[in-house]
Amino acid sequence: MTDALPRPSRTGMGASLRQDSALRHTTGEARFTDDLPEPPGLLHAALALSPVAHGHLAPLDMAPARAVPGVVAVLGPRDIPGRNDISPSGKATEVLFAEDRVEHWGQPIALVVATTRDAALAGAAALRPEITKLPPILSIEDALAANALLMPPQVIERGDWTTALQTAPIQLEEKFRCGGQEHFYLEGQIALAIPGEDGEITLHSSTQHPTEVQHIAARVLGCDFARITVQCRRMGGGFGGKESNASWLAAATALAARATGRPVKLRLSRQADMAATGKRHPFLYRWRAGCDASGRILALDAMLAADGGHSLDLSGGVIFRAVTHALNAYDVPALRITGLACKTNTVSNTAFRGFGGPQGALLMEDVFFSVARATGLSVDEVRERNFAGGPNGDETPYGQKLEGDLIRRVWAEAKQDAGWESRRAEIDAFNAGHPTLRRGLGGFVLAFGISFGIMAMNQAGALVHVYTDGSIRLNHGGTEMGQGLFIKVAQVVADVFGVEVERIRITGTSTAEVPNTAPTAASTGSDLNGWAAHAAASTLRARMAEVAARRWNIPVEDIAFAEGRVTAGNHSMEFGELAQLCWAERVSLSATGFYKTPDIHWDPVAMRGHPFFYFSYGAAIADVLVDTLTGEHRVLRADLVQDCGRSLNPAIDRGQIEGAFLQGLGWLTCEELVWDADGRLRTLGPSTYKIPGSREMPPVLNLRLLEDAPARVNTIFRSKAVGEPPLLLAIAVWNALRDALGGRKLDLPATPEKVLGEGSAFPKPLPPGG
Ligand code: MTE
Ligand code: MOS
Repeated sequence: MTDALPRPSRTGMGASLRQDSALRHTTGEARFTDDLPEPPGLLHAALALSPVAHGHLAPLDMAPARAVPGVVAVLGPRDIPGRNDISPSGKATEVLFAEDRVEHWGQPIALVVATTRDAALAGAAALRPEITKLPPILSIEDALAANALLMPPQVIERGDWTTALQTAPIQLEEKFRCGGQEHFYLEGQIALAIPGEDGEITLHSSTQHPTEVQHIAARVLGCDFARITVQCRRMGGGFGGKESNASWLAAATALAARATGRPVKLRLSRQADMAATGKRHPFLYRWRAGCDASGRILALDAMLAADGGHSLDLSGGVIFRAVTHALNAYDVPALRITGLACKTNTVSNTAFRGFGGPQGALLMEDVFFSVARATGLSVDEVRERNFAGGPNGDETPYGQKLEGDLIRRVWAEAKQDAGWESRRAEIDAFNAGHPTLRRGLGGFVLAFGISFGIMAMNQAGALVHVYTDGSIRLNHGGTEMGQGLFIKVAQVVADVFGVEVERIRITGTSTAEVPNTAPTAASTGSDLNGWAAHAAASTLRARMAEVAARRWNIPVEDIAFAEGRVTAGNHSMEFGELAQLCWAERVSLSATGFYKTPDIHWDPVAMRGHPFFYFSYGAAIADVLVDTLTGEHRVLRADLVQDCGRSLNPAIDRGQIEGAFLQGLGWLTCEELVWDADGRLRTLGPSTYKIPGSREMPPVLNLRLLEDAPARVNTIFRSKAVGEPPLLLAIAVWNALRDALGGRKLDLPATPEKVLGEGSAFPKPLPPGG
C-alpha cells in the first residue's frame, strides 16, 4: 500500500498520521457493532412503527405478532419496568413507545423480539394498531398559526431596534426557508444488549454519547446507572444522529434483554432508520432590516422558526446555536433575533453537524442579497461593509467578542486563492456569451463558536495506564465516528511521554473506564479529551520522572522524555526500563485525567455571556454552473480557507474540511426530505433521497489551513476544533447559485426544481416497518 501522506516525525504534534483504523476500515478488520461475535442465544429485535402521523392509539393487541413463528416477546409501553421516558434533556417527557397517542408517522409503538431478524420483522408487520386519526401539523407555518411550540422562544436583543428599523434610510423585508437533512451515516443505528448477573447489562451501542445511553437505559429499566455498562469502539458515522437517537434505541434493546434474559440485537433497516430517527431541523425565516445607502445594516428583526418535530429532544440547544450564530461574522448595532422550536407531527429533529449554527448563519446571507439589490452594491461589498470589528463593533449581541482581524484575513485569503477579480470578469464574459448556461460566484465567511451551550457539558475525563514493557493504554470519554479523534488524542499522549504513537494502544469508549462523560459533539472532542488525556499522562510522567531522578540522584527538573527514552545529562534509559523500575519501586502506573473548559459562562434568561471558549474562522468561494433549461447545476471550483489553529493533525483536518463541505453541499443543494399530506416520509432511502456522491465533488477543490494562526486561548497544543465549522463553508454555493440567477430568491435545498422555480412531483409512499 502506498502512503500518500508525508512522513513527519512519528512523535511530534502536527504530524499527518492516518485515522487510527484507516487500514482496518479498508480491509474489513475494523469491528463495528454488527461485526461483534454474536453471543450464544442471541435474539433479534425489530421496531413496529406508527403508520399514522397523529391519532389516538388503542391498547395494542400483541397477539398477531406473538403468533408469528420464532417470536419470543412483544414489548410495549406497559412492559417497561422503569419509566417510558427517553428525553435527553430531562425537560419534558418523551416516550420510548407511544402510549395512547401517536405523534408522527414512523413513531415506535412496540418492539418484537424473535429468534431471527426476519421473524422479528414479520412479527412487527403483523401488528394492526387501531388509531383514530387526528389532523397532523406538518408545516412550520401551521405550527406557528396554532402556537404549537416545544419550548419558550429564545430571544437575543440589542439596542433600540424598533426605532432603528423605523428611521433607517432603506427598509427591507423578506422570508425564506431551508430544509432538514438525514444523517445518512453508513452504519445505521444499532445496539447489542448482553444481560449479566444480578441485573447487569452490557450495551454495545453505536453512540456518540455512551453516558446518555447508560442513563436512559437505566431510566427505562428502573435500575441504577452502575448496573449498565456502555461500550463503543467506533461508529460508522454519527454526524449528530447518534447523539440522542442512539440512546432510546439502546434502551429498547436493553429492555428486550431484560425481558427475555437473553442477548438481543436491534439493527434498523435504512428505511426504518430514516422513518424513526430525527434529522436536521428545517427552518423558516422572516426578517426585517434597515440599512443606509453605503450598505451598512443598521437594524434587524429576525424570526428563525425551526421544525422541532413532535418532541423536544435537543431542540433547545439547536435553537441556542441558531440564534447565537444568526449574526455570524457580522455586526448589526440594533437587533432582535427570535428563535422558535415549533412542534409538528414529524419525527423529532435532533443534532446534525453544526447543530443549528448552519441554519443561523444563512440569515445574514439572505439579508445581504436584499441590501445589495436596494443599494446597487455587490453582495460581497455589502458583506465587507458589515464585518464585525474594524470600523464596526466587534461584540456579538450576546456579549462575546469576535476577532475582526481573523474574519478579514480568512476572507482576503480566500479571495486571493480564488483569483476573485479576474474570475468575476471571466464569469461575466462567459455569461454574456452563452444563451442558456449561467455561471455564478459566491462567497461566505464564518465565525463558529466552540463549546457546548450547556456549560456543564464542557468537561472530559481520561484513563491512562503504562505497562512495565513501556506500552501504554489510552482510554477517554470521547467516541470515534470516523473523525480521527482517537489518533489525535493518542498523538497528545505520545507527545507527553516522548514516545512513538505506535506504542499507544487506542481503546474503545466505555462507561466503565471513564464515567459521566459529555457526548462527543459540538466539535469539542479533541479539545476536551485531548486535555484530559494530557492531564493523565502528565501525572504519570511526573511520577516516573521522580523515580528516574532518585535513581540517578539528580533534580527531577533535569529529566527529559524524548524519542522513547528518558534522559538527563549522561544518564539515559529506555521508557520501558523506567516503567519496570517504577513497578519495582511500587509506584502506580495508572492515572486518570480531567479537564473542564475555563472562562465560559452563559445566562440563559438574559441570553448573555461568554458561552464559547473561542471561535473558529473560515471562508469559502464557490464557482457554479447552472443549466437554465433544466435547473441542474454543478460546483466547478471551490476555494476554502479554514482556521484550525495549530493543527494537531493536518491530514485529519483536511479530511474533515473536505467531508464537511460536501455534506453541507448536500444539505443545501440535493438532499430533500419529502413528507406527503398525511405526514408520511416519502424519502426513505438513497433511491429517493439524494446524498452527494463523487460527481458532486467540485473538480477543483482547493483547501487550505490558515497558516500561523494559533488559538489565542489555551487550547490543546494551540489547535482549534474542525469537526463542524467547515460544513457551513458550503453556504458559498447557495450564494453562487443566486449570483448565477441574478440574485433571485432561492429557497433551500436548491434542487433543480427550485432553481427553475417550479414545484416537484414525488413517488408513492412506502409502508413503514423494521
Ligand atoms: N466526521 C466523520 N468522519 N464522521 C462523523 O460522524 N461527525 C461530525 C464531525 N466529523 C462526524 C465527523 C460532528 S457532528 C461532530 S460534532 C464532530 O465530528 C465530533 O467529533 P470531534 O468533536 O472529535 O470533532
Ligand atoms: Mo455534532 S451535531 O455536535 O454531533
